[in-house]
Amino acid sequence: MPNFANPFQGNVNKKISKEELIQAVRLDIAGELEAVFLYDAHAMATDDEVAKKVLCDIRDEEKAHVGELMTLLRHLDPEEAAHFAAGEAEVHEMLEELGLTPKEQAADNKISTSAATVGSLIKE
Ligand SMILES: [Fe+2]
Repeated sequence: MPNFANPFQGNVNKKISKEELIQAVRLDIAGELEAVFLYDAHAMATDDEVAKKVLCDIRDEEKAHVGELMTLLRHLDPEEAAHFAAGEAEVHEMLEELGLTPKEQAADNKISTSAATVGSLIKE
């Protein structure tokens, strides 16, 4: 949640080590995910189509920031990247066990995102 009371809250008054940079990037990722959550929640909470469109556009930009920071984190910490890859492989195995191919997954995702929800931009 934003905290504007202390204008120097986010300032770091020294050059940080690589380990501290990795921790900072993790915190930055958490901040981007929080932003995604908030923009999404606010978009879902309104029926104002313009506000919904703007908030969803910003939300999607925050998702891109998550991707940028995850790529940076993988670059800074290849060992952590290996853990991410291991987790991804586990889920891919589960998907294979369920008989889902990448093409079927894409189709499933399309179905789930095209369903109308509270605050959906899709007109019925
Ligand atoms: Fe962002």
